[in-house]
Amino acid sequence: MEIQPQLIGILNTSNKQRETFRVYEGITDSQIDQLISYTQSDPLVSKFTSDRKRFLNRDMFTVWREKKRSIYTLADQNGTLAGIMWFGRKEISPSVVVHIPRKSADYGITFAIRLYQNARGKHLAGKFMRFVFQAFKQTATYQTIPHNGIWVKTSVDNLPAVCAYRSLGFKEVSIPDEKEKIVMILEETTSLPIQ
Ligand SMILES: CC(C)(COP(=O)(O)OP(=O)(O)OC[C@H]1O[C@@H](n2cnc3c(N)ncnc32)[C@H](O)[C@@H]1OP(=O)(O)O)[C@@H](O)C(=O)NCCC(=O)NCCS
Repeated sequence: MEIQPQLIGILNTSNKQRETFRVYEGITDSQIDQLISYTQSDPLVSKFTSDRKRFLNRDMFTVWREKKRSIYTLADQNGTLAGIMWFGRKEISPSVVVHIPRKSADYGITFAIRLYQNARGKHLAGKFMRFVFQAFKQTATYQTIPHNGIWVKTSVDNLPAVCAYRSLGFKEVSIPDEKEKIVMILEETTSLPIQ
């Protein structure tokens, strides 16, 4: 049986339209189809992520989901998928040279964010992340994974992503690797900015 996503917040854009989006823990069945469809047709997602393979079809989505992801979604007023975030248990890749105060193994949680065409370029990334990080930090999953911070890997030229991560308190801790990727870390001790 499908578990219905739980509403955890409401976001408004700051543009004239004042569009409203809703933040949920979980994803609906029809949103999984939208996720697969958007992923396969979105050039920015193809450029900056491995989602075309990750979300190639239902089977691939199921394989991915089984790795105990904590999934959060953003939906527009019609319930159509506008974005997704997820957290996973993974240590920083040993292939990346990072300058961090602790061992890579101390950063055992990573996350990802995607906004799709109907939500992109509206300054929603930082707001969506703040809501979701606050919610995820309350969960047993977060509290039982030993960690000193959350890490993310991003292309150095993905400016909307890098700016959004910085706005939350993430710091660059590596130089670009051969694929121009950098690692950014949000230390456990960093307070999240107020909405
Ligand atoms: C990354 C992503 C979630 C950001 O969402 P977005 O809607 O494009 O970005 P936003 O409009 O929220 O802008 C984010 C911040 O970057 C800034 N920004 C956006 N474009 C910029 C640019 N070209 N140069 C400098 N800053 C820029 C914005 O001012 C904003 O900061 P603010 O809200 O404090 O003003 C979205 O672009 C996306 O899903 N991309 C494809 C998938 C992806 O790359 N995911 C991340 C992989 S690491």
